[in-house]
Amino acid sequence: MSALKNDGTNAQTVWLWNEVGHTQDGRKEQIALFPSSPFSTPKPEKLLERILYLASEDGDLVLDSFAGSGTTGAVAHKMGRRWIMVELGDHAQTHIVPRMQKVIDGTDKGGVSEATNWKGGGGYRFFRLAPSLLQKDVWGNWVISKDYNAEMLAEAMCKHFNYVYAPSDEAYWMHGQASENAFIYVTTASLTFDQLRAISDEVGADRSLLICCMAYEAQGEALDNLTLKKIPRVVLDRCEWGEDDYSLRIDALPMAEEVEEILADDAGTHAPKKTKARTAATPDLFGEEE
Ligand SMILES: C[S@@+](CC[C@H](N)C(=O)[O-])C[C@H]1O[C@@H](n2cnc3c(N)ncnc32)[C@H](O)[C@@H]1O
Repeated sequence: MSALKNDGTNAQTVWLWNEVGHTQDGRKEQIALFPSSPFSTPKPEKLLERILYLASEDGDLVLDSFAGSGTTGAVAHKMGRRWIMVELGDHAQTHIVPRMQKVIDGTDKGGVSEATNWKGGGGYRFFRLAPSLLQKDVWGNWVISKDYNAEMLAEAMCKHFNYVYAPSDEAYWMHGQASENAFIYVTTASLTFDQLRAISDEVGADRSLLICCMAYEAQGEALDNLTLKKIPRVVLDRCEWGEDDYSLRIDALPMAEEVEEILADDAGTHAPKKTKARTAATPDLFGEEE
């Protein structure tokens, strides 16, 4: 609970340093957290407390896309808000992770801990963004980025089509699964009809397989248990690339504990039998989760 009162006095235009802190307070908080490497431009926690108090409510989602030393997330956490922080610098690892750990285990006694009666708790997930899957070649055509090896590409395609990435020793074409009988195979090869027919025979009548490949012989489309998609066209069809506004639905992010079942669309799984895919169960894409 915040000690602030929602009586209008906290929304004044002028916020005095003795109410919302001073850059020196931010610096002292940093030194307490990181004696040998304080972040150079920290805000005092009291300032963020006032902002979050005025602009959000318990349980709201707070976004700081330039997280710095993580003050916004730390204060949001102590105030019972959920949060997303984005940071491209190394201090995501060197400052934000250890800071949030101290907040969570209750050893961060500084900043607004006392004012919010913070004792510790909660958690977070840490994701590392994958490089862009697609890039344009010298002729302006979309191609798969050279940063992607075969495993990364398979994992990325599983993510795009709501399959759980789970390469199997049982068969080379089992890269992921959407249900007991629905599989995905990702390859940069061009597949001939003979190759497709051989795969189709292995898959059998009781299973279905989505194949994402560079190219395929059109005859293969007649094989009942296969659905054929070309990369990168199929990825371009499903995502926006090179946009300024990706309209991230932050109100509808998958939560770790909520395993939401969604119906895969016809582009997603081959199975015409309303295959269900588990998005939240899909492992993170190349990222470390901490
Ligand atoms: C001034 S700090 C932010 C301080 C923080 N929001 C706070 O309230 O204390 C700006 C941060 O934005 C990060 N940054 C700059 N461009 C970015 C980008 N495109 N994506 C993510 N972080 C970025 C910088 O590395 C830096 O840590």
